[in-house]
Amino acid sequence: MAEVTNTPNGTAVPVHTSTDLKTTPSITMTAPTDSEPVVNGEPAPTTNGTTETKSEPAVEQISASEEGMFGPELVSPTIAASLPTTYTIRALRKSDYSIGFLDVLRVLTTVGDITEEEWNGRYDWMTTQGKGGYYLLVVEDQGRIVATGALLVERKFIHHLGLVGHIEDIAVAKDQQGKKLGLKLIQALDFIAEKVGCYKCILDCSEANEGFYVKCGYKRAGLEMAHYYDGSTRSHL
Ligand SMILES: CC(C)(COP(=O)(O)OP(=O)(O)OC[C@H]1O[C@@H](n2cnc3c(N)ncnc32)[C@H](O)[C@@H]1OP(=O)(O)O)[C@@H](O)C(=O)NCCC(=O)NCCS
Repeated sequence: MAEVTNTPNGTAVPVHTSTDLKTTPSITMTAPTDSEPVVNGEPAPTTNGTTETKSEPAVEQISASEEGMFGPELVSPTIAASLPTTYTIRALRKSDYSIGFLDVLRVLTTVGDITEEEWNGRYDWMTTQGKGGYYLLVVEDQGRIVATGALLVERKFIHHLGLVGHIEDIAVAKDQQGKKLGLKLIQALDFIAEKVGCYKCILDCSEANEGFYVKCGYKRAGLEMAHYYDGSTRSHL
């Protein structure tokens, strides 16, 4: 995870190599902190007048064989209920390899050719050694992953063993953009961050995406710095 440095206003900011596209300098955004409490513990979803919504929360009953990387109690029922009828929001599952998860990430950056064996290895690591640190959400529509976002939870000594959430790898399939899926993903990740005890969430983004995160309740909180190492194939990102 990220090394941490301090901004002039005292906000801890991670120094890391985000996978966001970096055609312009990145900035760091933060959600409301403990000095700016979130009302009711869960942001209200923005409704889209043109989309049909569910009347009941649609958190799936997950069979043992299809268990996700975290439990359904961490999926916001409000966000689940606000999705169009054929859409489901849930934790990432191992089987999502074969229904387009990596293709959705390709709208964000290069992913590479990842074999199923490599995928399984990374998934297993995240759910064993990395347990409690990785919360990857997906939105599925009729057997296809159409959007994803990640919350990484950093365990600190400061702020009395505080937990900081890092929002990463937000991606909505090209043909699904503009339907409020990105907004709902961020709200659902904020819900998880609060539930697991984070005192704030931060993220890095390009100037081009700042307006999107402002719509999600985030505000500019610093400047991202990065140090790419020799041999890194990601130095162009
Ligand atoms: C950026 C992205 C996640 C937004 O998701 P989306 O589902 O298309 O956006 P939403 O429909 O949820 O938009 C919510 C609001 O943000 C606005 N918005 C979306 N993208 C925006 C942008 N780049 N700049 C400013 N506002 C933006 C929308 O107009 C909407 O505003 P409204 O509520 O007033 O109508 C999506 O376009 C995407 O995956 N892009 C490619 C990958 C990427 O850049 N990821 C972010 C990495 S930091």
